[in-house]
Amino acid sequence: MPLMQVAPSILSADFGHLARDVDAICEAGCDLVHVDVMDGHFVPNLTIGPVVVEAVAKAATKPLDVHLMVENNTFLVDLFASLQPEYISFHIEEEKHPHRLIQKIRSLGISPSIALNPHTPPQCVEYLLEDLDMVLLMSVNPGFGGQKFIPSVLEKASRLKDLIERRNPECLIEVDGGVNDKNVVELKAAGVDVVVAGSYVFKNRSISEAIESLKV
Ligand code: DX5
Ligand code: ZN
Repeated sequence: MPLMQVAPSILSADFGHLARDVDAICEAGCDLVHVDVMDGHFVPNLTIGPVVVEAVAKAATKPLDVHLMVENNTFLVDLFASLQPEYISFHIEEEKHPHRLIQKIRSLGISPSIALNPHTPPQCVEYLLEDLDMVLLMSVNPGFGGQKFIPSVLEKASRLKDLIERRNPECLIEVDGGVNDKNVVELKAAGVDVVVAGSYVFKNRSISEAIESLKV
């Protein structure tokens, strides 16, 4: 079984030294650089847009994993397309036509992914799975770093894994929020392929030890 992929969230980086911190996680062997885009509408918080993400892309030697937490998904997909992230995730709770948006993301040469809030059941992506490369399960309420892990995501990941095995075994499961070296073991057992970790990586005494400890 492949090792857990690790996608540090730059939300917890030092924005005064963003390029340095992006370089540090890439040097430390992360698999993806997770970028949280918040618009102050879908979630109350505001973060960064394409201008800053362009600087992140220049500093990164690993592919970008863009997580949109926005109302206007299609507009933002167009804005980020030229940066050619590996993945763009959008929230199903905020999209009337997810199937159409998946096709659009793929046509731009980017891997499509759908994000689910803690209350959203995995069945809602069942008939989209064959077109998806990843499903992102939120294990906190979106909007802020440093929150407590919601354990019901473990059962949700197992249920999603069953659906994935039937519909599209290539599709990855990513879990985002409150991940650390303890719950990563349970996430692995539940069938999770990629973990996002912000505060655990950047508030750790050693970024490389933190990333290493998540590769279970
Ligand atoms: C929350 C974001 C997460 C978050 C993870 O809305 O999607 O990526 O920054 O941070 P931690 O690991 O601190 O929960
Ligand atoms: Zn995220």
